[in-house]
Amino acid sequence: MEILSATHQIITSIVILAFKEILEQPLFRAIGKVADDCGQPVFVIGGYVRDILLQRPTTDIDIMTVGNGIELAEKVAVSLGIRSKVSVFRNFGTAMLRYKDLDIEFVGARKESYQRNSRKPVVEDGTLEDDQKRRDFTINALAISLNEANFGELIDPFNGISDLNKGIIRTPLDPDVTFSDDPLRMMRAIRFATQLGFTITDETLLSIAQNKERISIVSPERIADEINKIMLSHKPSKGFILLEETGLLKLVFPELQKMKGVDSFNGIAHKDNFYHTLKVLDQLALKSDNLWLRWAAVLHDIAKPNTKKFVEGAGWTFYAHNYVGAKMIPGIFRRMKLPMNEKMKYVQKLVELHMRPIALVEEEVTDSAIRRLLFDAGEDTDDLMTLCEADITSKNQDKVRRHLENFQLVRQKLKEIDEKDAIRNFQPPVSGEEIMEVFQIAPGREVGLIKNAIKDAILDGIIGNNHEEAFQLMLEKAREIGLTPAS
Ligand code: CTP
Repeated sequence: MEILSATHQIITSIVILAFKEILEQPLFRAIGKVADDCGQPVFVIGGYVRDILLQRPTTDIDIMTVGNGIELAEKVAVSLGIRSKVSVFRNFGTAMLRYKDLDIEFVGARKESYQRNSRKPVVEDGTLEDDQKRRDFTINALAISLNEANFGELIDPFNGISDLNKGIIRTPLDPDVTFSDDPLRMMRAIRFATQLGFTITDETLLSIAQNKERISIVSPERIADEINKIMLSHKPSKGFILLEETGLLKLVFPELQKMKGVDSFNGIAHKDNFYHTLKVLDQLALKSDNLWLRWAAVLHDIAKPNTKKFVEGAGWTFYAHNYVGAKMIPGIFRRMKLPMNEKMKYVQKLVELHMRPIALVEEEVTDSAIRRLLFDAGEDTDDLMTLCEADITSKNQDKVRRHLENFQLVRQKLKEIDEKDAIRNFQPPVSGEEIMEVFQIAPGREVGLIKNAIKDAILDGIIGNNHEEAFQLMLEKAREIGLTPAS
């Protein structure tokens, strides 16, 4: 333990040295010089300092000054020769600059108190210390001076460096005060713990559990933002487990909470779908950074609690949970203020289709089944396969290996058949317009019948995916339903 902390200290010293180099950039010197001319203390503070020390890439810089932040931003822009406009948010007392690829936000030091039912603070000017103690976590309250007199000095009144070294999330003040000021911070604590692999102190965690109901005053957009960040972490399950343990999950994502627990009948129990889902999500996270694919993993079994039924002889069944689940998604996305566009449709499609590849490998992998999968999943076929591979969570390693091998076979066949028949982006080789023209008919049932017959014949391998064979079949089908070509 001792050795570990000594090593950490050495690493921190090296990193702080590296930070000194970063600070020597003209940008920080320029900010310090302008602030000196105005007689204002100025600091780089918050997430930027934390991320540099953790060596995480970051382009958002927060500059805090004791005095007017907006005026300072305007003067810094002139001194750096920035021609684009400074964005000023007078209500918040902040101003934003874009410099090279950096977003720099200026703010005056504040003392804030929040009204009980709103996240809108009543803002008063404050000192550096006032500002630091009203921040969310010790690791986010680190400040580095930019004034010439003490350029590069670290001001760390709450031992944030030590918490960074130990990997601890802790509030600077009594957590009840910090969370009551801004309840979103409860989600942020869990998100940082997940993103950084840190531990939330017991006191802070207990306070989240006690203040959880206050999350109701936070907008769904900001909650979704935190959930998305948890979802995009290296091991997202950690965040969802913390949300569950603190009681936040049932408030922000009740459908997922409902998945927890097992029912047992006549000594037969089903698996806990909450933990299964989290395992699928973690397995998927190792293979893909696609946020919406990760959402599909979280939601793939979301209808299991609603479709659960014990059937004599068959055990626990979740009949049609994939279809019911896909239908639940618009409601969940709408409430969480997630996008209602093609991203949601993509998640719906994957949830609806998630049983197909496994059914394929358990039965015989026929060409026709492969073509139908390619037709239905289209360009998302590979993502569907990735989801389904992550969905294998059996404890029986033999079974896992067998299933994964079979999936490899399916992937191979998908590739072969796709190359041969081009089903993935299926375009009917005979269009509706052509059918109407050949038979001189208006749009209607017959056109649909013929188009479907052609599609089915191609997917079943009866004819090839080409115009010539499709045209012949069109003539045959038309004859069967009493249509003759107009000559
Ligand atoms: N902050 C806070 N309470 C909040 C949000 C932010 O105290 N609810 C403070 C923290 O000091 C934080 C800084 O404002 O470091 C900047 O906030 P933000 O840019 O939202 O977060 P970062 O910490 O930079 O991290 P991320 O960009 O990952 O959200």
